[in-house]
Amino acid sequence: MAFSYGGFVNSGVGKFLASNLGLPRPTRLRRHTPGESLVPGAVFVDGFGEAPLAAQVRGVLEGAGVQLATVPSTSVVAAVLDLSKVRSPADLDIVRTSLGPALKTLAPTGRVVILGRPVAGAVDVAQAAGRRALEGIVRSIGKELRGGGTANLVLVAEGADDALEGTLRFLLSGRSAYVSGQVFHLAEPVAPVQAPADWDAPLAGKVAVVTGAARGIGAAIASTLARDGATVVCVDVPSASGPLAEVANSLGGSALALDVTSADAGTRIVEHTQSRHGGFDIVVHNAGITRDKLLANIDADRWASVLEVNLGSILVMNQVLVPAIAEGGHIVNVASIAGIAGNRGQTNYAASKAGVIGMTAALAQDPTVRAKGVTVNAVAPGFIETEMTAKVPLATREVGRLMNSLSQGGLPVDVAETIGYFAWDANRAVTGTTVRVCGQMLLGA
Ligand SMILES: NC(=O)c1ccc[n+]([C@@H]2O[C@H](COP(=O)([O-])OP(=O)(O)OC[C@H]3O[C@@H](n4cnc5c(N)ncnc54)[C@H](O)[C@@H]3O)[C@@H](O)[C@H]2O)c1
Repeated sequence: MAFSYGGFVNSGVGKFLASNLGLPRPTRLRRHTPGESLVPGAVFVDGFGEAPLAAQVRGVLEGAGVQLATVPSTSVVAAVLDLSKVRSPADLDIVRTSLGPALKTLAPTGRVVILGRPVAGAVDVAQAAGRRALEGIVRSIGKELRGGGTANLVLVAEGADDALEGTLRFLLSGRSAYVSGQVFHLAEPVAPVQAPADWDAPLAGKVAVVTGAARGIGAAIASTLARDGATVVCVDVPSASGPLAEVANSLGGSALALDVTSADAGTRIVEHTQSRHGGFDIVVHNAGITRDKLLANIDADRWASVLEVNLGSILVMNQVLVPAIAEGGHIVNVASIAGIAGNRGQTNYAASKAGVIGMTAALAQDPTVRAKGVTVNAVAPGFIETEMTAKVPLATREVGRLMNSLSQGGLPVDVAETIGYFAWDANRAVTGTTVRVCGQMLLGA
């Protein structure tokens, strides 16, 4: 049986050694199960000044049947603090006086969500400083929390207040289990924000295309989007037709075998979705490869193939997919932490994934894309337990697993849940952003 640090420190003798030596012990994370309540207990909500977003949060939570805790002495499963009215760093003392005590009563796998406004909209330098301070606060809380807790910041631009519910629900729920230390940006929505009839089926009636869906993270994306109500078109290379058909059939979707680098890939996706499903609303560009080598030794083929599959193919396919995607649709790209932090032996891969992040921001601002009300976002996974990472040598793998605030690797479903979040019509105020799904990995932080 393969050695696992997480398994060892949670075993009898391992637990004893870990607590005496002060070693990190990974907690089983709270993940989403359809039908379960949004949170498994009371939520503490507070704010500075008139705190308009806190009022909204209370409304959402009451509507979801969640108990509100008004004093920090009650045991809570989440704490939400509205700092949208902060005028200067002096106002931040409420983080210490209000959130500080609440953290003492926060249950394992608890959630901390801080709400603020973007620095860009500050009226003066002091307010800009106070607003930017929230990032340092949230990232530090993420590192202080134990027991699988997460902390995230939501920056809500003026005019986007009504779009908060989708992001709030995502962050409080088990869907965001492996997302911590992140900043979520809500701007003026590109199309009307629509809450689903059922928050357990936020993609009901939608058609989603997922590339690289035959295995790994892509298969998890396909099954998560299907679980949430979407009909999924699963795309992968012809050599993976067997597993691809299995994934598609198990989800009641359809399979399309093609290489994303072929010149007609976009056209074939459009034709397939139109003839089989009447079009498509969501595209997830997940297909990706690695061909690692130090830059000094890399050959032309390793260099070009990674850039072509991971980045070039998306640019080419989007020329056909963007005009064909439904109005108000969603494009989600899969980047990587390597595209943020860089990685030894992965110059080609890091280039492709950093390019994906840049492309995401640029395409979101494209006038055609905005006019169609289409959102474009990316996820940057950290260490995710897949066939790919299982092949990494033991020592490197254990370091990869532990170098984050949650002291464990993420699961493919964690990446899939964040992709699903980007695809909700309730989240049309979120575009051009990249969210890391990395358990607050120390690399590139
Ligand atoms: N596993 C991780 O820890 C991790 C971390 C960061 C980013 N990622 C990214 O997540 C995505 C999925 O990774 P994974 O770990 O599931 O990898 P994987 O190798 O298990 O799966 C990738 C899938 O993409 C398909 N694919 C490759 N080239 C293709 C092409 N030209 N046309 C169509 N399909 C093609 C493969 O056949 C495979 O089914 C990739 O973009 C990867 O870079 C993974």
